[in-house]
Amino acid sequence: MSLTDKIAKLKKEKRAVILAHNYQRPEIQDIADYVGDSIELSRKAMNEQEAEIIVFSAVDFMAESAAILNPSKKVLLPSLGARCPMAQMLTVDEIKRWKVLYPLLPVVLYVNTLASAKAYCDICCTSANAVEVIESLNAETVLFGPDRNLAEYVEKKTGKKIIPIPEWGFCPTHLLFQPEDVQVLKMQYPDAVVMVHPECSLGMRDAADFVGSTSQMCRYARESPAKRFIVGTEEGLLHRLKKDNPKKEFIPAYEAAVCPNMKLNTLEKLYVALKEEKYAVTVPDAIARQARKALEKMFEITG
Ligand code: 13P
Ligand code: SF4
Repeated sequence: MSLTDKIAKLKKEKRAVILAHNYQRPEIQDIADYVGDSIELSRKAMNEQEAEIIVFSAVDFMAESAAILNPSKKVLLPSLGARCPMAQMLTVDEIKRWKVLYPLLPVVLYVNTLASAKAYCDICCTSANAVEVIESLNAETVLFGPDRNLAEYVEKKTGKKIIPIPEWGFCPTHLLFQPEDVQVLKMQYPDAVVMVHPECSLGMRDAADFVGSTSQMCRYARESPAKRFIVGTEEGLLHRLKKDNPKKEFIPAYEAAVCPNMKLNTLEKLYVALKEEKYAVTVPDAIARQARKALEKMFEITG
């Protein structure tokens, strides 16, 4: 029996569902019950009723959010090492330090944070809804972390003052994209449309025709009449883009832009995760309660 068949069999026996992020390896995306961006996956996990186990093939903070939003389910992360380095960049102590400096300002945290950090914020957002969340707040200045690029993007879009916490937070994978590389590709493919993730630098965002979350890029590519796209995000998204749009061409803005953390999940590890029911992701009750409030507020605003 192939590994894929074994996974399918176990999944049925154990009443499990597999949720995979858009950056997962192609073979994982192909066997997943649902593939999406961080807001879509959180929503799916929150509303999951049938399954007893949610295998969350992504990185730590996404699985943590699933465990917080649907505490009656067992949430499994196939690789314990799949941790988002950006989420590690904002500690609780750092948030507290900024809160002392600006006690009256709301704290908005990107979901790419650990549950312990979320417990200290007013509301969460994802790259798909950050602008909407900030606009909904009755405040002209906001503390926002940990991604400085997303903070700058939202500041420009909303006209509000966004103070990034920490001042330097970034995604190591999206940092690899350079506008010069896009310029070279545009010379080669002048008809190509450029789409980038807001975690990219200002130069990349300025060079883009469209800026959005991974699933927003999928939607944009599907609806656009263009036939060729230069893609400024982790290479895993190209599998989904090509699958959804077989007649269109997708060119990575930088081929080596791989998130090594996302790629720690493999089909083999996913099989073992299901078989041995590991690694169960749990969040201490007091933290989960507070973090859930911040996540639920986001859903109240963005649906
Ligand atoms: P999306 O929510 O756009 O899928 O982004 C998640 C992420 O980790 C980007 O690096
Ligand atoms: Fe974290 Fe960047 Fe990987 Fe996304 S691509 S999970 S932000 S390291």
